[in-house]
Amino acid sequence: MAEPRILMCAPSHYDVDYVINPWMEGNLHRSSKALAMDQWQGLCALLQQRGRVELIEPQPGLPDLVFTANAAVVVENTAVLARFFHPERQGEEPWFGRWLESRGFQVVQLPQDLPFEGAGDALLDRGGGWLWAGYGFRSELAAHPLLARSLGVEVLSLRLIDERFYHLDTCFCPLSDGTLLYYPPAFDFYSNRLIESRLPAAKRLAVGEADALAFACNAVNLGDAVLLNQASASLRQQLEARGFTVLETPLGEFLKAGGAAKCLTLRLDEPRLPTTTAAPIPDLSRTVRLQGHLLDTGLINRALDQIVEAGGSFQVLDFTLGQQRHSPSSAAIRVTAPNGAVLGDLMAELIAMGADSGDDGDRDAALATVEQAGVAPDDFYVSTIYPTDVRIGGRWLRVEGQRMDSALVVVGGSEPKGPGQRVECRLLRDLRCGDSVVVGVEGLRTIRRDQPREGRETRQTDFSFMGAGVSSERRVELVVEQIAWEWRRIRDRGGKVVVVAGPVVIHTGGGVHLTRLVREGYVQALLGGNAIAVHDVEQALMGTSLGVDLQQGVAVHGGHRHHLQAINTIRRCGGLAEAVAQGVLRQGIFHACVQHRVPFVLAGSIRDDGPLPDTEMDLIAAQAAYARALAGADMVLMLSSMLHAIGVGNMTPAGVKLVCVDINPAVVTKLSDRGSLESVGVVTDVGLFLSLLVQQLGRLEQGWTAPPEPMGAAAQP
Ligand code: ARG
Repeated sequence: MAEPRILMCAPSHYDVDYVINPWMEGNLHRSSKALAMDQWQGLCALLQQRGRVELIEPQPGLPDLVFTANAAVVVENTAVLARFFHPERQGEEPWFGRWLESRGFQVVQLPQDLPFEGAGDALLDRGGGWLWAGYGFRSELAAHPLLARSLGVEVLSLRLIDERFYHLDTCFCPLSDGTLLYYPPAFDFYSNRLIESRLPAAKRLAVGEADALAFACNAVNLGDAVLLNQASASLRQQLEARGFTVLETPLGEFLKAGGAAKCLTLRLDEPRLPTTTAAPIPDLSRTVRLQGHLLDTGLINRALDQIVEAGGSFQVLDFTLGQQRHSPSSAAIRVTAPNGAVLGDLMAELIAMGADSGDDGDRDAALATVEQAGVAPDDFYVSTIYPTDVRIGGRWLRVEGQRMDSALVVVGGSEPKGPGQRVECRLLRDLRCGDSVVVGVEGLRTIRRDQPREGRETRQTDFSFMGAGVSSERRVELVVEQIAWEWRRIRDRGGKVVVVAGPVVIHTGGGVHLTRLVREGYVQALLGGNAIAVHDVEQALMGTSLGVDLQQGVAVHGGHRHHLQAINTIRRCGGLAEAVAQGVLRQGIFHACVQHRVPFVLAGSIRDDGPLPDTEMDLIAAQAAYARALAGADMVLMLSSMLHAIGVGNMTPAGVKLVCVDINPAVVTKLSDRGSLESVGVVTDVGLFLSLLVQQLGRLEQGWTAPPEPMGAAAQP
């Protein structure tokens, strides 16, 4: 076998002159020229015993030129030249390029502005023959398909997530027997799964953090020799057990710049393995278009963050900034993903943010047929709370019965994509054999109503002037004023408000207030579980809630039995309505509901005592009854009931005003995380909230009908 060829560059001009990775921090001009030279010569000598070292002339002003690994990735006669991410290293490109050309390599240049840092981020697998390519810090994912094309190899993209391991070769080293030496925590979840799917456990040699930080994975492997800065005894043993000889060669001076053995070398004679296949390059890019108040609402930032967080990368193709405060901006973004699964998830997220499939917008949605009742086809599109359009037969159809976590089913019409068709949300359990379900992410868009910050404050017509978010105690009174005003308006125009309430409403003394709201026509439906009704009845019959005297706030002797007695009484009557009719239940929230014909639904749960005859213990029936009660709601008030509130949130489309009140910020945050502008969270005691609300409504009744002043804005004219 021919001698391995290795490119190196003597450290005559090496130093830490700038900071472009965490290792360089605190090390500015702290390296010793003499020691660096000694260490470099030590490595060079070991390599010369095993191969041919070729040298590139050092250049003043290019201290990192010693790290020849970053020059290019070379496979057979082709070298894809680096495009350095940091301007500090861009001056190296022409030197490396000229050197490679002069040695007869076919030098491929990537497009400007497409960072790729050579063999630092691209390593051939010596068992499988494919190219492992890193991205996340220095190289762009979008460069990977170009590597595949230029080198004629399959490229597997790995995302780096720990900035200490900013180049793939700092934490990843394919060895000659097909073993992979690597540090798994440096990679994201998907990348680890990819590695595990390509290499059996026996071929994976994971190192611990200490070895990783000593640059043990930044090793040069020639034949059975593994040259590295330092290896723990256990790592040495494991490598030896696989037949390798471990040669330590201290490189501390170079660690100060974030490099070690492998970084200081570039293999020039990597052969294409016979097993190497130029796998077809899947199209893992899509162009999406975002429109609206992109800067003002922060939408563009959120979208780009989302892409990167999910493991994709992007290129902004064009950005048209709206000139006036009220004119919308527009951006076309090319999204690239490392694999189909990530692309699907990513596109679904972007669609939920209101992205339109831009230049790819002429595609119809893909449909698949349900083959097993109650089971959707793989890859079915999961609905969100936002109004959604589906492109079928070239026409955009608005989805009916919008809610989250459903499948989208195409119904009606005679031909699969003919006229007369509709699309509706359907729960998995309601899918029937033969149903046509939307799969994938093509031909879909959602309508978002993000308002610019300024605009929000000037709109008087709805909640958006509050902005979505969680209000702290301080702001409770303000929020209450706004809710009261809105609620009054809804009632006056005959709208619909649904209240979802937990038993805490009773414990905190809110029962009287809620009763009053029911009596005065503010509530059009009440949703809860067994407990709120039981506590309300207990209070009505015995003056306690779970045995606690609500007037005195103390536990009543023997009071813990009260709530079972309450249940028993209602069961004897046959139900809440019957108890009212028989004159047994004479006050409280449910008494008011029965008297004022306000429908209520009680959804059962595993911990229910009794239950009351009114409690629906069939959860599927209970969900359906909730959904019916919620249809057409203008506003939903969620009062301290996490489970019921979240259930309701899932059934409610964007556009319905949601007010979530809970003493536990986690519950409130969870609901305002829907991201829809109309949801408002209030972290406070629900009894206090209800009393303030009733007071405020009382004030409005007395004729004070001016809208409250929006927070943070000047008074309205
Ligand atoms: N200071 C150099 C940089 O940050 C170190 C390069 C190390 N090279 C490598 N292949 N990991 O770019």
